[in-house]
Amino acid sequence: MLKNLKLKQKFTLLLLVILVVGLSLSGLVLSALLRQNATNEIASRALTLIDTMTSLREYTLKQIYPELSFKLEEKFLPQVVSAYSAREVFEILRKKPEYRDLFYKEAAINPTNLRDKADSFEAQVLERFRKEKDLKQVNGFRSLPGGDIFYIARPLTISQPSCLQCHSTPEAAPKTMIDRFGAVNGFGWHLNEIVAAQFVSLPASKVIEKAHQASLLIVGLVSAVFIAVILLVNVFLNRQVILPLKRITRIAEEVSTGHMEVDFDQISNDEIGNLAKAFKRMKLSLEMAMKRIRRTQGGNTGGSAGY
Ligand code: HEC
Repeated sequence: MLKNLKLKQKFTLLLLVILVVGLSLSGLVLSALLRQNATNEIASRALTLIDTMTSLREYTLKQIYPELSFKLEEKFLPQVVSAYSAREVFEILRKKPEYRDLFYKEAAINPTNLRDKADSFEAQVLERFRKEKDLKQVNGFRSLPGGDIFYIARPLTISQPSCLQCHSTPEAAPKTMIDRFGAVNGFGWHLNEIVAAQFVSLPASKVIEKAHQASLLIVGLVSAVFIAVILLVNVFLNRQVILPLKRITRIAEEVSTGHMEVDFDQISNDEIGNLAKAFKRMKLSLEMAMKRIRRTQGGNTGGSAGY
């Protein structure tokens, strides 16, 4: 089948095969790489958010709580609680479209607010943080009934002695807080203990979508470059090989039918030019040979006429 194809078609076919094989092979590697890249990028954004929440917690504990703690005697003010301010601020952030899909949770095994209770998966992550003290973050994908999610988690430590005013024993905690949250949950914590894990999560499809967009862009770009290469190779092939070859063929055909007045012209010094040169020499030898034949033929007839 290849035999019946023209040079141009053969080259185009070869380049197309390279394009398809190259794209599919690199596509596999690329999609894994891009997925990793998208994961890293999203993870780093989520980490920034967690760090922001941690700073906000510290601000609340150090600047709001001391100013307003006396008010807790008569009325419980959730605004002085770090966990509350982090959650509220995150909710405000989620009103922006680009953060709508994000979720924030301070998952604890023994939480003050039962809504923060760690599920079995979160509890495992929390256990890992408690065992591996050097572990600063964990991220990955997990399946939930509502769909797959990507999560990133950081350990949350009782870093200040003032945390223990509300989280050591019910007796030490403000009475109004006990009225609201009861005297059972969120107590018995110690200084420097990892009591919770801060989770930021988002639908896994967001990560995959991001990787997808990037791979589409790259595949598009590579294809565009290849198509440009195919076109350029075609133009080059046409000018440098096919047209000169056609010209040599045409002249050779004319010479073969006895039109000796046309000549092979050598335009370039490459292989095609050398071919033209060789044909030119061949034509010259042919002419000389023919002249010699004619002369001997003419001599013979002349000789016989003389007899
Ligand atoms: C004024 C009392 C008070 C202080 C001080 C306080 N907390 Fe809390 N903490 C609470 C209350 C109340 C909640 C439940 C808030 C809610 O969900 O509305 C809570 C929630 C939390 C949670 C979320 C899990 C849960 O128990 O529901 C964590 C984690 C936490 N606190 C850690 C800390 C740390 C660490 C400190 C010190 C940096 C601290 N808290 C200081 C009262 C306090």
